[in-house]
Amino acid sequence: MLNSLAGPMIVGTLFETASPDDLKTQYCGVHMWREAIQRVLISEAELHCRIQALGRVIATDYQGRELVFVAVLKGALMFSADLARAVDLPLTIDYIALSSYGNRHVSSGRVHILKDLSESIANKHVLIVEDIVDTGISLQYLWDHLMSHHPADLNVCALLDKRARRRVELPIKYTGFDVPDAFVVGYGLDYQQRYRNLPFIGILHPEVLTPEPR
Ligand code: PRP
Repeated sequence: MLNSLAGPMIVGTLFETASPDDLKTQYCGVHMWREAIQRVLISEAELHCRIQALGRVIATDYQGRELVFVAVLKGALMFSADLARAVDLPLTIDYIALSSYGNRHVSSGRVHILKDLSESIANKHVLIVEDIVDTGISLQYLWDHLMSHHPADLNVCALLDKRARRRVELPIKYTGFDVPDAFVVGYGLDYQQRYRNLPFIGILHPEVLTPEPR
């Protein structure tokens, strides 16, 4: 009988005895999802170390200034929470939700604001906190949108920079890691809304990606 509160050992037993069909239907997504990861690109420890370093630099640069994080949902959820704790300064955090990929794995080229700013950023020192800059289309759209609210200054902190696919160039003041042209997930980044809660950045098996219509 299934125990919905089963701990790791009991779950492990079920995993060994269940057929592949059982796993798909009864445990869909619980056990099998990590097998979609081809390899870990950036480990949890590497993320932690780099984010602490970014936090120290940002704290030095923004000393004495009224700093506002504008974190971009949903992807920057984890990064913004960890980066904010690594910056030893008073700051405020606002969230803006954008979408340009939907459930696809290539940018639609059209950016939608799903949730706008909650507070005024006029005359504030604003830092955009992004999980990844890929084509740059989302960042360009966000940059123009935020500049129309007249911040004192505007800069960008991106955890990941995928330069190979850039179509629009904007200065990124703080970068966590350069990443290759592969589909990366985890630590906030998704494919079809899944994998965001992986604690590391991993490369998804290309076979997992649904082919895009031509
Ligand atoms: C992702 C990511 C960036 C954007 C980068 O967001 O979080 O905001 O794409 O891609 P680009 O440089 O090609 O524009 P997505 O639209 O997938 O929404 P999500 O953050 O909710 O996953």
